[in-house]
Amino acid sequence: MANVIVIGAQWGDEGKGKITDLLSRSADVVVRPQGGVNAGHTIVVQGQTFKLHLIPSGILYPETECIIGSGTVIDPKVLLEELQQLKNLNVATDNLFISQTAHVTMPYHRLLDQASEQRRGEKKIGTTGRGIGPTYADKSERTGIRVVDLINPDELKEKLEWTINYKNVILEKLYNLDPLDPQVVIEEYIDYAEQLKPYVVDSSLKIYEAIQQKKNILFEGAQGTLLDLDHGTYPYVTSSNPIAGGACVGSGIGPTVVDRVIGVAKAYTTRVGEGPFPTELHGEIGEQLCDRGAEFGTTTGRRRRCGWFDGVIGRYAVRVNGLDCLAITKLDVLDELAEIKVCVAYDLDGKRCDHFPSNASEFARCTPIYETLPGWQQSTENCRKLEDLPKEALDYLKFLAELMDVPIAIVSLGASRDQTIIVEDPIHGPKRALLTSNQ
Ligand code: IMP
Ligand code: MG
Repeated sequence: MANVIVIGAQWGDEGKGKITDLLSRSADVVVRPQGGVNAGHTIVVQGQTFKLHLIPSGILYPETECIIGSGTVIDPKVLLEELQQLKNLNVATDNLFISQTAHVTMPYHRLLDQASEQRRGEKKIGTTGRGIGPTYADKSERTGIRVVDLINPDELKEKLEWTINYKNVILEKLYNLDPLDPQVVIEEYIDYAEQLKPYVVDSSLKIYEAIQQKKNILFEGAQGTLLDLDHGTYPYVTSSNPIAGGACVGSGIGPTVVDRVIGVAKAYTTRVGEGPFPTELHGEIGEQLCDRGAEFGTTTGRRRRCGWFDGVIGRYAVRVNGLDCLAITKLDVLDELAEIKVCVAYDLDGKRCDHFPSNASEFARCTPIYETLPGWQQSTENCRKLEDLPKEALDYLKFLAELMDVPIAIVSLGASRDQTIIVEDPIHGPKRALLTSNQ
């Protein structure tokens, strides 16, 4: 048995959806520990595209139990739409469980997220506008509404009346917006609660029981390391902890039950929203990566910023997550390039810097130091084993493994399940016997 955390090693959108979908095959339980409907996982199964924001992709396997954990923030309206989408596509949803201690995103959270972004003007974060920051802010401020409150109509009425009257002051006085009518919101959310109630559980207990039964548990991270509230590129981050440690907090389990941590990274780098991005490409190659990689956000449709692979960030992700191995995705997007650059260190005020600077203004001044590798200029889409890869592609992967000092377990070469090279089963295979620079 193995309990595995899958996290994003960059700024999100690394292709975690596809990797967790693949690994879910061996999992009995999939847990989503943090984040909300800011996330977007696109999964393609037999030509059918599923866009999921909250429900773990494990739902596509009928036997797999899927748990939306305590560290998430839940927008009931979006969750119900997602459930409907799955039902329409004949996917059973009775194996979904929702934590009663997760926090609920309310209409005022969305309004406040968008209004505060507008107020920031040029200093905006570039959020998804889904109310994520304000929901987590209320959680920290201890004025949040939890799922357990949502499904208790009396509790909900009392809490919402108080909170909406309070939020209305901010909406009206600070942002010049129309106030919300508490009674309208209460009625709407009581209706959502009735629909969601059958799914609500004590998630920490449910996960603990699964651990005791020696089930395989997959913790499916959302967003990515550099978007972590504590360890990312603050303030251009999300309001939860996408790093591996956050999976324990958000699930209500101890770190000793985790057997492996798998990092997912694209063969290049992307970022949506504002904030520094040293390897960003502004010219033709950036456009090419964006077009070939279909780099548009699942949640907001925004065009993602694209750049070369950043090994400094890669090493940082290895450090703060304790990565055992990597899954490299979208290698095929590089297929046509004659040369590929990889950032191996930064130049910071004329000095070489090998480590990610935790000082935000220093990071903003970093420029990349590149090494250039030859491209392979042929299609890798149909490669199914390492031996099928062109030599230059294999050399590129080995270069990345060496740069980050972590083996590569999975290589993904397209959106569908079969466009994958499993170098070594990252759940059951021996630790650290994977693709390394020495192979
Ligand atoms: P928020 O999470 O909506 O508050 O947005 C904060 C930052 O995180 C913005 O830069 C978003 O673009 C980014 N972000 C949030 N969720 C995701 C995701 O799932 N993928 C990529 N970026 C994300
Ligand atoms: Mg995404």
